Amino acid sequence: MELKINTIPENERRKLPEDESTLGFGKIFTDHMFIMYYDEGKGWYDAEIKKYEPLVLDPAACVLHYGQAIFEGMKAYRTEDGINLFRPEKNFERLQMSADRMVMARFDPDFVLDALKELITIEKHWVPHSEGTSLYIRPTYIASEPFLGVHPSGQYILYIILSPVGAYYATGFNPVKIKVEDKYIRAADGGVGQAKTCGNYAASLFATKEAEKEGYAQVLWLDAQERKYVEEVGTMNMFFVIDGVVITSPLTGTILPGITRDSVIQLCKSEGIKVEERNLAIDEVINAFENGKLDEAFGSGTAAVITPVGLLGYKGKDYTINDFKVGKLTQKLYDTITGIQWGKIEDKFGWIQKATKD
Ligand code: COI
Repeated sequence: MELKINTIPENERRKLPEDESTLGFGKIFTDHMFIMYYDEGKGWYDAEIKKYEPLVLDPAACVLHYGQAIFEGMKAYRTEDGINLFRPEKNFERLQMSADRMVMARFDPDFVLDALKELITIEKHWVPHSEGTSLYIRPTYIASEPFLGVHPSGQYILYIILSPVGAYYATGFNPVKIKVEDKYIRAADGGVGQAKTCGNYAASLFATKEAEKEGYAQVLWLDAQERKYVEEVGTMNMFFVIDGVVITSPLTGTILPGITRDSVIQLCKSEGIKVEERNLAIDEVINAFENGKLDEAFGSGTAAVITPVGLLGYKGKDYTINDFKVGKLTQKLYDTITGIQWGKIEDKFGWIQKATKD
């Protein structure tokens, strides 16, 4: 398929943000987007880089009624010698996995990654310069066929938008307070927890709002069956360091297979740090805390990068971890991952790709 490129004239372009320290997360968008369409009869067509503008959707579009929608989160980083992408092929692999789970049409991941690089080449002046900032990339894939029967759509739209961002949490790289959620659940065994589908995020809003009212930033989900084992935080996978061992939930279908999660595991193993991917009961975490063995806790994600967890609230009691300070391993992982992303540390794992075509 041919990629059409239709850029807008200079005088129609938006103003770049003047103060990068106020970027926040996902509030402003660049001038152009990538889009392509699918029809059961003809496959993918009309791939184009064009002006960022509202989508035209029929009010009966399947996505608006039955939520057949998936997305990805990626970032482009400005370095001294160009702009980097971090393991981008993994995001498109995961988008394909989510598409399969949500019965959406397969697409050519190489074509879309190449189109993304074309888009970043056009928008490269939007990649922010300050430390800790990046250009967030949001591939989004929705069902567009208009009908009201409950069945998979025969038409789809896949698009990519870009947003210059700072830290996901307003507190920056500082410990956050997380509430262990023992009432509501995110995903059950056999459900769609591993797919990056929009409904998972909609389902998280109520509990998160309740937690925010109590002063926490987000919730840590427990398993749906027993409310016993820790799962994920919705915008990040979770890691607990107990007595020197790094423990994270296994990928059994209810949590998102995070790319940063996988990178953390590979980095720890390469440093000889013991990592266990296993069911971790919240009681084991609390016991470790009581016995002074809960060394650190942190989350990982594209938006969240590595986020220290400084406090866990569980059943009305707060447990402050590592004196609400960033732990040693948490800091090291943050420095290493961001160092690789910003081209300051050697990329021994082959994770970096050039983001632009020039
Ligand atoms: C990401 O980390 O990129 C995510 O997609 C999580 C969130 C902002 C929805």
